[in-house]
Amino acid sequence: MVAALNAAIAAIRSEKPKSTVVLTGAGVSADSGIPTFRSEGGLWRNYRAEDLATPEAFARNPLLVWEWYEWRRSLVRDAKPNAAHLAIAKLPNTLVVTQNIDGLHQRAGSKEVIELHGNIFRTRCVREETRSEAPDPFENLPPHCACGALQRPDVVWFGELLPEGAFERAARAVRDSDLLLVIGTSGVVFPAAGLVSFHNGLSIEINPQPSAVSSSCTFAITASAAEATPPLVEAILDAGTHR
Ligand code: OAD
Repeated sequence: MVAALNAAIAAIRSEKPKSTVVLTGAGVSADSGIPTFRSEGGLWRNYRAEDLATPEAFARNPLLVWEWYEWRRSLVRDAKPNAAHLAIAKLPNTLVVTQNIDGLHQRAGSKEVIELHGNIFRTRCVREETRSEAPDPFENLPPHCACGALQRPDVVWFGELLPEGAFERAARAVRDSDLLLVIGTSGVVFPAAGLVSFHNGLSIEINPQPSAVSSSCTFAITASAAEATPPLVEAILDAGTHR
């Protein structure tokens, strides 16, 4: 980890990036105590995310799906941004593209965040498609809209499209940036994982395990996000070229 981190810092010093895009997955929030999807702690009552995060699962059993989301909402509510979220927020004019629905980047102070998979504290009426902020626990599950129809979490499920324009905007930013940081994603869920291939310049991954995108990155640092992100951000800021 130290050798790769030092090599990545040396590359930042020599390339002096003017712009950075940060692509994150569940691993960036692991150090805040939120289990990732593809880890043991990510299982809930022995269901995998792929069994619950689908329109079919919701149609079959909305209560079960909502119970899972209420569990995750309570974990996120109790969590705090960690050193990685806080370091990323120090980078000026930097777009964060996240697959996470926990809002921790915004809570850390990041201003420009594309939430590819929506937000766990918003609901959407399945009939009217109206969105509502819903930060607090629900008294009754599953929640209903005033119109009588079910509310669903305003998140992207397997087989659904990303929010309109989100991927295109993210892809353009990734392509046009000097530096891409890829933090805490297994890189197996598309289209998000495909964003890495839009980048041509320096790219640095932080992940304690090899991922499906490690070999596409210039450097792969095998460390936790909270450990390795702050020194990289310091190196970028020290280079003094970031706009
Ligand atoms: P995954 O759970 O697939 O992968 C999490 C990654 O984080 C793994 O590669 C871990 O090795 C890494 N990791 C674990 N702890 C870490 C730490 N402390 N620091 C850095 N990395 C760490 O999560 P995602 O790649 O985000 O989608 O999954 C993508 C999508 O699949 C999610 O957005 C969600 C899920 O099903 C939907 O719900 C549509």
